[in-house]
Amino acid sequence: MDRIAVLTSGGDSPGMNAAIRAVARTCHYNDKECIGVMRGYEGLIEGDFKVLDRASVGGIIHRGGTILKTARSDRFKTQEGREAALLKMKEAGIEGLVVIGGDGSFHGAKALHEMGMPVIGIPGTIDNDVAGTDETIGFDTAVNTALEAIMRLRDTASSHDRLFIVEVMGRNAGFLALETAVASGAEYAVVPEIPLSIGNLCKLLRESHAEHKSHTLIILAEGVMSATEMRDKLQDTGGYDARVTVLGYIQRGGSPTSFDVVLATRMGAFATDNLLIGKSGFMVGNVNHKLVLSDLERSWTEHKNLSPELLNLIHKMN
Ligand code: F6P
Repeated sequence: MDRIAVLTSGGDSPGMNAAIRAVARTCHYNDKECIGVMRGYEGLIEGDFKVLDRASVGGIIHRGGTILKTARSDRFKTQEGREAALLKMKEAGIEGLVVIGGDGSFHGAKALHEMGMPVIGIPGTIDNDVAGTDETIGFDTAVNTALEAIMRLRDTASSHDRLFIVEVMGRNAGFLALETAVASGAEYAVVPEIPLSIGNLCKLLRESHAEHKSHTLIILAEGVMSATEMRDKLQDTGGYDARVTVLGYIQRGGSPTSFDVVLATRMGAFATDNLLIGKSGFMVGNVNHKLVLSDLERSWTEHKNLSPELLNLIHKMN
């Protein structure tokens, strides 16, 4: 294998650039050529490629977003789109591919693998909802970004004796909400994995208000409902004046934390090394601090559970 390509797909996440750099630099270390694919699978279909030499990945390690840009491609979900992409890769002499993205992106990676193109996936999403790895690239940064915003909200919540409902991203999973709730010392984490009883939540809020807890914080995962919807449902909170904040896309931007840069660099190098020795159809995971390979389809067939320890901590610390 002399020439491999790398692309980013799905929602961007902080640390993707560090992963791209690691793939490119590992290629150069092994005297191989690295090709960057623009706009994910869309660029693969269109043959939108650029050579990533050593210099082109300089100065990007701490930059958020992705220099290769990203997209969610409907065309690549079709057999026609996949065949067109494979043809463009063959024409460009690309012999292997590293896909950086979430489980949605790995469906496409698996299809290419089955069509004979060697592929390795690297999990990059702020949602951390990918089975086969303890952390995805970007999750740690997103938690820290949310935390910084929530610390500001705490100041105003305590000054006005208010209840704040903070909606965080995470798609259908509660990893981001739970971790952010523990890190910010929030009173409640409302996540899709645990059935919610509005009646019970109101009761807890009334009790807490009666105990003279002047302000309180609920971290709500977007997969449950919107923060406005929750505010409207929380009818009798015993006197709290409720306000909502949606953190939104702020959580996806910004420079990656050192944890994400190191994780991305390790995963990028590991994925490339494995691709170059002929491995394909796998995703890189960080399990108990060790890098491992697992089947790509595990990322969508297996459900990743929230940490029972963290869920318990929310109650204990309340
Ligand atoms: O998967 C990352 C994520 O930011 C989710 O948390 C969120 O639900 C979704 O992407 C938003 O997607 P889009 O960028 O397509 O609006």
